[in-house]
Amino acid sequence: MLAIAARRMGYRVHAFEPQPDCPAGQICDLEVNAPWEDSAALEKFAAGVDVVSFEFENIPLSVAERVARMRPVRPRGEVLHICQHREREKKFLQANGFPCAPFCVVDSAESLATAISEIGTPAVLKTAEFGYDGKGQLKIPEPSDSKSLWGKFGGQRAVLEKWIPFEAELSVVCARGLNGELVAFPPSENIHKNHILDLSIVPARFDPSILQEAERIAGDIARALDVVGLIGVEFFLTREGKLLVNELAPRPHNSGHFTFDACVTSQFEQQLRAVCGLPLGSPELLRPVVMWNLLGDLWKNGEPDWSIVLSQPNAKLHLYGKSEARPGRKMGHVCVLADSTADALSCVEKMRQALEA
Ligand SMILES: Nc1ncnc2c1ncn2[C@@H]1O[C@H](COP(=O)(O)OP(=O)(O)O)[C@@H](O)[C@H]1O
Ligand SMILES: [Mg+2]
Repeated sequence: MLAIAARRMGYRVHAFEPQPDCPAGQICDLEVNAPWEDSAALEKFAAGVDVVSFEFENIPLSVAERVARMRPVRPRGEVLHICQHREREKKFLQANGFPCAPFCVVDSAESLATAISEIGTPAVLKTAEFGYDGKGQLKIPEPSDSKSLWGKFGGQRAVLEKWIPFEAELSVVCARGLNGELVAFPPSENIHKNHILDLSIVPARFDPSILQEAERIAGDIARALDVVGLIGVEFFLTREGKLLVNELAPRPHNSGHFTFDACVTSQFEQQLRAVCGLPLGSPELLRPVVMWNLLGDLWKNGEPDWSIVLSQPNAKLHLYGKSEARPGRKMGHVCVLADSTADALSCVEKMRQALEA
């Protein structure tokens, strides 16, 4: 989607991706498939472009560093280094005074036992690296034998986090330009199913003071990280009305996909502008919108009947061109623009029922 935004503004785009036939490659002028460790391929790739960004966190830091010797990498590798590792991310948030759930770092059955007694239960154990969509997480509802928990978890370095019985979840995608200019998109109210984002609702249905506070925190995080590009900040809203930062993503965020159809500037165009050193665009929301993620489960009987979506006049269908549909895999999304959130939500539920039937 970054490549689509770039193409529209006349840029040429090269993609580096280990797996062949990646969705970005379908749009780019050049797709390079090589392992991250292939320095010659990386250097050749870097030599062919003016500026480099990324839209995936699990890129080895060494790759960003190698490329940065030849071309500007935005956001800088250190941002990637912090955000790709939950322990570093939490410590960054804590050290800079950003509110987050209480946590302890865990690397053995013994330290897990100590952490459980410190944090209390319910709690959730999350791997430090490579987690997404709830993968690599184990909920611990009550105190139990830490040896068997640690064994079940697979014994990787992790963070134990207090379970937050939140009122709601929201997120803010914030852009920071090369000159430090900050522009936040309207906060999105997020509803997850099985730990995977299901719906984003914008405008988010919370008190304006909460939305302002979320935007302020996201901007402060972008500044503290010295980001050039985008930072997605996920929050829990507690029952006491307090915001806690859940996690950070230094790239376009799934909860920002609504911007493609509903804002003056999309998050992808904004990333492009930021990393190319251009002025940032307006994040203004044009209409209420609900974004619905299409997961691979919908493909259980083959290609879904898209006429169900396309016959809704205010629904916009986005399919990513991923070659294989697996349950839980994000294959695309739909944005419904409407006069009211209630109308957009009822349209989504109608399409959902028809597509799942
Ligand atoms: N400490 C927590 N308390 C309550 N719910 C949580 C907690 N941590 C995660 N969750 C739920 O699981 C979802 C996914 O967890 P998250 O930490 O965002 O990991 P990821 O998105 O990388 O899988 C969250 O959006 C939230 O719904
Ligand atoms: Mg998350």
